[in-house]
Amino acid sequence: MTDIAPIRKAVFPVAGLGTRFLPATKAIPKEMLPVVDRPLIQYAVDEAREAGIEQMIFVTGRGKSAIEDHFDIAFELEKTMSERGKDISVLEPTRLGPGNCAYVRQQEPLGLGHAIWCARDIVGDEPFAIFLPDEFMVGKPGCMKQMVDAYTRIGGGNLISVLEVAPEETSSYGVIAPGKRDGAITEVTGLVEKPAPGTAPSNLIISGRYILQPEVMRTLEHQEKGAGGEIQLTDAMAQMIGNQPFHAVTFDGRRFDCGSKAGFAAANFALALERPDIGPELRAFAVDLLG
Ligand code: UTP
Repeated sequence: MTDIAPIRKAVFPVAGLGTRFLPATKAIPKEMLPVVDRPLIQYAVDEAREAGIEQMIFVTGRGKSAIEDHFDIAFELEKTMSERGKDISVLEPTRLGPGNCAYVRQQEPLGLGHAIWCARDIVGDEPFAIFLPDEFMVGKPGCMKQMVDAYTRIGGGNLISVLEVAPEETSSYGVIAPGKRDGAITEVTGLVEKPAPGTAPSNLIISGRYILQPEVMRTLEHQEKGAGGEIQLTDAMAQMIGNQPFHAVTFDGRRFDCGSKAGFAAANFALALERPDIGPELRAFAVDLLG
């Protein structure tokens, strides 16, 4: 078997406007909204760590400094808590040392593809992962770990995570044209972003996790605006099909679309119910409320 370059770097594009969550996201980024007591971005970073990824690259924009603060040392807070004998271990996962994180700015929200391209110098010439933190993936192992395992089995190339949705939902997402299928792994023969209703090539949607080869950066460099007038990552990936291996892995777990209000509320409810500290109280409340 040939050696496959390990996935060491992850890009988190977090420069979107978050308009669907206004006014909550006027002064704080969407990715800092909490599911129970952890912000969405923390779940994504934890998922990356579980998959063996070492360097987290955040593509931020104006008004996103809360993300940098979240992963920094909170000196006054930690000192005061320690002096008062309070346990600060809960803050441990929030620490990303200088060698483990980098921030780059997308000056204008020109689209997801453009956001990824902004990280090209830090990514360099190696395969890398992408996480859309508002796609909240709950699984054991996590979605990216499942993907890295599949990537190793397949022997490299490009890999995206997909999920089956109802056909009428496909027009809101990137959709794959499927080729040969082998268990959870499907060959990708085409990709289309937000297909017009009734035209989707399948009901398998791209679900916010990617492992891509560095060539995608060169494709993005020349990418024209696509759906919504934005530079679309899906369009750039579509151009790579045929030149490089391209597969999808069906995620074994639950996905919550935390970019939508209903998905976000559902994620909070589902995870809170599973928590031993608050689940029983919440369950009793829900039973009472729903009769
Ligand atoms: P979304 O379209 O879901 O995010 O982009 P948004 O624009 O923040 O949200 P709404 O639709 O206005 O509510 C998917 C991901 O791509 C990032 C977003 O931050 C999100 O993680 N993104 C999008 C960028 O980083 N830059 C962009 O120009 C666009």
